[in-house]
Amino acid sequence: MSLFICPVCGEKLEKNDKTYFCRNNHCYDIAKAKYVNLLMSRTSKEKRHGDDKLMIQARKNFLEKGYYNILLKEILSVTENILHDGCTIVDIGCGEGWYTDNIYKFAVSKVSDVKMAGIDISKTAAAALAKRNSSIESAAASAKAVPIGNEVCDICLSVFAPCDISEIERITRKNGYFIRVYPLEDHLLGLKRSIYDSVYENKPKEIVSDGFEKTAKKEIRSMLHIDSSEDIINLFMMTPYYYKTSRADQEKIRGLSELDTEIAFGIDVYRKC
Ligand SMILES: C[S@@+](CC[C@H](N)C(=O)[O-])C[C@H]1O[C@@H](n2cnc3c(N)ncnc32)[C@H](O)[C@@H]1O
Ligand SMILES: [Zn+2]
Repeated sequence: MSLFICPVCGEKLEKNDKTYFCRNNHCYDIAKAKYVNLLMSRTSKEKRHGDDKLMIQARKNFLEKGYYNILLKEILSVTENILHDGCTIVDIGCGEGWYTDNIYKFAVSKVSDVKMAGIDISKTAAAALAKRNSSIESAAASAKAVPIGNEVCDICLSVFAPCDISEIERITRKNGYFIRVYPLEDHLLGLKRSIYDSVYENKPKEIVSDGFEKTAKKEIRSMLHIDSSEDIINLFMMTPYYYKTSRADQEKIRGLSELDTEIAFGIDVYRKC
């Protein structure tokens, strides 16, 4: 049985080599790239369909160089405290799956019978996750209509991704956890300073929900020194600034051979009441 449910009728999906199907005969082909598209036409109209190929490739190249290992380590240490045998983990807005894959490998090294799925509104991202790790189920789907049944998740993750707290509350079991990772206001200030004349800090928004209690909050801050222009461009291209920046300002980044920048991450852990 799959972790996914049918986006049309909400019944559980089963899968064979080629398709996912529910007992009401709704079928979803498994793409050549081994993910399933569970986006409904309503949700697929969402703006820009998530990250495109360029952003996904840039993020993959950058993360694989280990620049954000400091954050991964913290996510794994938070996860370690709440893992248990038979754990079901869902990563919402998983991107190309670097965190998803690392968390899965860590979980299976610690406990048995781990089930994991990743969803992303971008089909390119869903394909990249499926390529990374065939033991993790991968779907193109929206955070606003997560194709997971009610109260089945032990751990829900949202790493730098948009999330809908009512959907997370719906799919999380009682006493299950939601781990949210987000940029703090001073994240990438050095990168922003090298592009813009005046730089302002984006304050993160708190997530408030009666269904969850916050059990932990961590802030991770460090300086990153990058001395490869390719890595600097990858960092820039994986951020939302890439598409919001004029060609002239983009050129400023392309001309850099070194960059020193702050990195600053928040990790909030919530338990479902
Ligand atoms: C900044 S990336 C983070 C990806 C990954 N979690 C990581 O940290 O490497 C945000 C991701 O959220 C996805 N996304 C954007 N809107 C979404 C939505 N409404 N539902 C699901 N995913 C979404 C994008 O396609 C993108 O892959
Ligand atoms: Zn169905």
